[in-house]
Amino acid sequence: SSIMVLNGPNLNLLGTREPETYGHETLADVEAMCRDAASALGYDVEFYQSNHEGALIDLIHEAGSKMKKGELLGVVFNPGAYTHTSIALHDAIKGTDVPVIEVHISNVHARESFRHHSYISPAATGIIVGLGVQGYVLGIQGLVAKVTN
Ligand code: DQA
Repeated sequence: SSIMVLNGPNLNLLGTREPETYGHETLADVEAMCRDAASALGYDVEFYQSNHEGALIDLIHEAGSKMKKGELLGVVFNPGAYTHTSIALHDAIKGTDVPVIEVHISNVHARESFRHHSYISPAATGIIVGLGVQGYVLGIQGLVAKVTN
């Protein structure tokens, strides 16, 4: 079975984008870390990034149907700035019942006040914030621990 790792807007720029905030690892580095962490626990990874809210919603729906067929454990999701704006992503998670671990590379609570509120958190199973790209690995481990116990 697999774990979906989903990345929202601007995360394709990881590694060159505000490295003092987000670090020097690229999204390809993150993907490799996720594949290693998941395979150590016996899972495959479906890794996606999109800058488009609707495409992210479609992927959550796809994750929901795969979960219902027993093909997918859940989603590790960094929604980027849609975290702070998207009722539609909140509704997609609620509507599919798919377990989602919300991940933020930076500590959003130590940044601008517009980053302090998340529309995703009330629909999330767990949240990992401020631990750098290692948060994705912790998200995978947390998802497996939470959902398979
Ligand atoms: C982010 C935090 C968001 O506020 C920001 O818009 C991002 C990345 C993070 O991983 O720290 O794009 O989700």
